[in-house]
Amino acid sequence: MANLLVLGMQWGDEGKGKIVDLLTPAFDVVARYQGGHNAGHTVWVGGRKIVLHLIPSGILHPGTLCVIGNGLVVSPAAFFKEVGDLGAQGVSAGPERIALSRGAHLIMPWHPMTERLSEDRRGAKRIGTTCRGIGPAYEDKAARLGIRAGDLADLEVLREKIAEAAAAKDPVFRVCGLPPLDIEAIFREYAGWAEKLGPYLRDVPLLLEERMKLGQNILFEGAQGALLDLDHGTYPYVTSSSSTAGGAATGLGVGPRAIHGVLGITKAYTTRVGSGPFPTELLDETGRTIAKRGDEYGATTGRARRCGWFDAVAVRYACRVNGVDRIALTKPDVLAGFAEVPVCVGYRYKGERLKGFPPEPWVLERVEPEYRVLPGWPESLHGASGPEGLPKAFAEYVRVLEDLVETRVAIVSTGVERAETVFLDGALAGLVDLARVRAAAAA
Ligand code: IMP
Repeated sequence: MANLLVLGMQWGDEGKGKIVDLLTPAFDVVARYQGGHNAGHTVWVGGRKIVLHLIPSGILHPGTLCVIGNGLVVSPAAFFKEVGDLGAQGVSAGPERIALSRGAHLIMPWHPMTERLSEDRRGAKRIGTTCRGIGPAYEDKAARLGIRAGDLADLEVLREKIAEAAAAKDPVFRVCGLPPLDIEAIFREYAGWAEKLGPYLRDVPLLLEERMKLGQNILFEGAQGALLDLDHGTYPYVTSSSSTAGGAATGLGVGPRAIHGVLGITKAYTTRVGSGPFPTELLDETGRTIAKRGDEYGATTGRARRCGWFDAVAVRYACRVNGVDRIALTKPDVLAGFAEVPVCVGYRYKGERLKGFPPEPWVLERVEPEYRVLPGWPESLHGASGPEGLPKAFAEYVRVLEDLVETRVAIVSTGVERAETVFLDGALAGLVDLARVRAAAAA
């Protein structure tokens, strides 16, 4: 039995949806541990595009149980919209397929409202959030005002909690000139969700322990990316949850020793949505070319993503704070055809070379990236079925990246479909049953 954690190592959008979907056949359970419907995980199957926001990317494999952990903040409306959209595409997402932790916090109607106010108040310093209410829901969790999925089981408890939270919000609404919250209407809405959500609610830590005792394999799924982590990301330009590997233990209620390996996903270049420092950002035609070729538009908000060269300082840092064992490298084809491909190998600040990735965003904003320029590869990677099919210059690019981030690349994604994947020899040994993955991808 081996449980694998899969997470993004940059600022999100690394292609986690494809990799989790690809590896799912080797796992019995796919368990997501943080975030909410701010995420956008895109999976392509047989030319069909499926975008998941809240539901784990294992849902397309009928035998897999998908778990939504206590570390998430859940909008019941967004959840059932996704369940409905999946149903319309022939994918069953009923309670027999999805377990929602009773400890997950609910996104309430006041969360997106207060988030818009706070983003407006920040003006030019806005975070550029997805405005889905994610941050304010985590704020209420930390303020001990949150309403959890388990509270839906008793409508009297629910009514009381809504009244308590609304009373705490009232002064803010008054100052902002907004009408007071309609407690009765909110209660009626959530009492309706209580009935629908009831069958999905489970004691997730207990469920996962039972599954592990049966020898089942669990894939822990992260959302966003390590550099958006509340503690280890580019604070304050981050999301409000623990997207790094440590978040899986608290976000699901498993011990850290339940995680047997960590697979970090990184693009062959870098992107970021929203505000915040981005040392290798390309504000020129090259950046726009990468965006166009890589179709770099947000799966959740449709916003254009900022693009730049691969940043080995940032990814090395992500390897460290997540204990990454192996890397999955995605979207290298976007770089095919560039005569030269620069890679950021270090930062200079006030004339000095920094040792690592600085935690202060105001330092990161002012660093000068140092580049090593590597030869590009004119050939497309499409159709490569094994390491021997990869262009020589690209193989060298991978080797240099591995040296710089001190971690081996195990998977190269050559396209959006499951079969468009190259596994580098032996690199995933002991972590994933590749025979099962390969058979399912070829089917
Ligand atoms: P929030 O998560 O909506 O609070 O947004 C905080 C920051 O995280 C903003 O810069 C968002 O653009 C970014 N963000 C949130 N979710 C994702 C994601 O799934 N991919 C990429 N960026 C994200």
